[in-house]
Amino acid sequence: MDKNSMNNNHWSTYWQSGVLTSLPMDFKQNYDGELADFWRGIMAQNQGHTRILDLCTGNGAVAILLQELATELEQSVSITAVDASVIHPSMVARQFPEKGPIIERIEFIGQCPVEQMTEQLTGPFDLIVSQYGIEYCDTAGAAQAIQALLLPKGRLVFVSHAPETDIHQYMRHEERIYQLLEDLGVFGLMMNFHQDRISANGFKNKLSQLLPTMHNDPTNRSKDLFMTWLGALTQLSQMNNNQLKEQKPRMGQFTQQYLDARARAADMLAVSDKLTENPQWYLSFAEHGLELIDHGPILYQGKHHAGDQFQFKVGSKSLDQ
Ligand SMILES: C[S@@+](CC[C@H](N)C(=O)[O-])C[C@H]1O[C@@H](n2cnc3c(N)ncnc32)[C@H](O)[C@@H]1O
Repeated sequence: MDKNSMNNNHWSTYWQSGVLTSLPMDFKQNYDGELADFWRGIMAQNQGHTRILDLCTGNGAVAILLQELATELEQSVSITAVDASVIHPSMVARQFPEKGPIIERIEFIGQCPVEQMTEQLTGPFDLIVSQYGIEYCDTAGAAQAIQALLLPKGRLVFVSHAPETDIHQYMRHEERIYQLLEDLGVFGLMMNFHQDRISANGFKNKLSQLLPTMHNDPTNRSKDLFMTWLGALTQLSQMNNNQLKEQKPRMGQFTQQYLDARARAADMLAVSDKLTENPQWYLSFAEHGLELIDHGPILYQGKHHAGDQFQFKVGSKSLDQ
């Protein structure tokens, strides 16, 4: 397993909130438009009862979409969905009650890294899928595990993130601000106060040392994330000790949410770097007995590069073995 997949606590916290996809700003519910159309085309090729495995499922966006498509196409399927983090599809059912019956039909397995999934899963599967997931794994480890679980006539189909989009540029800009706040000692200070390692007066003293530096930073004063923190810290510095103590629980939560968001963004940026540095990263699946049959970009709303689709079948070389 590579460094991206070893510590998934930030993903676990994220899924706990009941979000359905990893891009909730872009997709209010589930993936739709050309992404859903792509998966509809894949599902239309199923023959007979189809056993499907969704990798790096998160809260199950693609698994849920495929279960819905199976109903639409009057197909019989059984879907299993795995993720390395602790996942919370039941929280999705609370947010979107109409998805409850669909979610109940899917077998979800959390804390199941793809590279080690053969220890927890019994194959074979007809169709192994992933969206915005497989590229987070160690490709060779994932390829081996997939090969062990796919039927000889099976398919591996996935959609990876598009490397270096506007979203990545925005995340890189945010990361520079997170780093600046960390260098100033902001996160440490908030956590120290939250965990009673520093008194209210000590907290205010430290704040009075770092706030002038932030106020006098002309470059970052135009940036939303920086200004959110500057505003919050200024408010805290104006509170009396009792008011400050009342804020302690929220302060810990607020800081942890930012640290988790930063860790998720770091994961996504590392993946973008991996895809940019090695544009043929997906060929690793071919080295492990799978044969590439199709790949290409997926344009959302006709123009946004939402990802790249890859379709593999079990190679004839591997069938001879
Ligand atoms: C960007 S999210 C995508 C989740 C989901 N497919 C979606 O589109 O909403 C990436 C997910 O990959 C999971 N992940 C990362 N490395 C993994 C690994 N080695 N094995 C299994 N899951 C992994 C993370 O826990 C996270 O839930």
